[in-house]
Amino acid sequence: MFEIEDIAAALIQRRREMPVINGTPKGKNIAHPAPRAPRIFADTAKIDEIKPLLDAGIINGVTTNPTLLKRAGASSWDEAKSMLTEILKACNPAPVSLELTQLTEDEMVAQAQELWKLGPNGVIKVPIGGYQAVDKKLDPHTGLKVLRKLWEKDIRTNATLVFNTTQAFWAANAGATYVSPFLGRVADYLYKHDQPERTPGNALYYIEDHKNSDGDQHVFNSEYVASGGARKDAGVRLIREVANVFANYDIHTEILAASVRNASQLTEIMVAGADILTVPAHILTDVANHPLSDEGMVSFNNDAQTFAGKGKK
Ligand code: E4P
Repeated sequence: MFEIEDIAAALIQRRREMPVINGTPKGKNIAHPAPRAPRIFADTAKIDEIKPLLDAGIINGVTTNPTLLKRAGASSWDEAKSMLTEILKACNPAPVSLELTQLTEDEMVAQAQELWKLGPNGVIKVPIGGYQAVDKKLDPHTGLKVLRKLWEKDIRTNATLVFNTTQAFWAANAGATYVSPFLGRVADYLYKHDQPERTPGNALYYIEDHKNSDGDQHVFNSEYVASGGARKDAGVRLIREVANVFANYDIHTEILAASVRNASQLTEIMVAGADILTVPAHILTDVANHPLSDEGMVSFNNDAQTFAGKGKK
């Protein structure tokens, strides 16, 4: 597996070719120091959570999915669409991902065209796989076919439910604007399924019923992570693998790190080279409220009282 030092040059070159997020307007003396910073999206469908984050300039976009819409109170497709329309309007021109709920190619393309009309900043979210888990008769390649069709129609897409680097590459190859590796769900899986007596991360690498003719347990790369041995940080390592593959092959599909579970993962994701982080609103709030920032602020504020009302500030 690559170490951070080995991948830095390729990743830096890739970032140089990515969109400028913080431009410097003409006439400014100080150029913006972070023109190609990773973008932060809010992972929520609740407009009350989105608006304060937009006002604070913290987020540059939003991702939604059917679960988040249900959680925000939508109980019909019409209600979901009206919530999405409100979010699109509030965020414009920042991108908002709207997930397809249909399951066949033609119906998905038709639904994508319907959602695309809701606002100029929409991005159509297409599940990369899992179709046969819902219905055995469905085509396993539906997601890839839809991604390609939508690219042909000039519709921006976000390939979602990505759990390995090959899925990410296939999605990019089909024309996806963004790919969303779900690093938090990989970490959740490890937490639930690892066997403590084995190497950390074993849940992703051992497949119980695969033994060789001598009856020995084989270690396999499971469908979740492609390479690099068993390690606890497999979720974030998935981001690093995708970033490397995209850097190696000059792929400009943006890597949108998804299913974030805590503030520490935000740092790990940026070290790994993601282009965008989509984060639940409560985690974005937690970042500002570090306990040592709290302690320092209370102490500075107390000492500042010494100067209060005593001459010019
Ligand atoms: C991303 O776009 C998804 O909406 C999201 O990150 C899923 O996260 P979860 O694992 O918390 O459901």
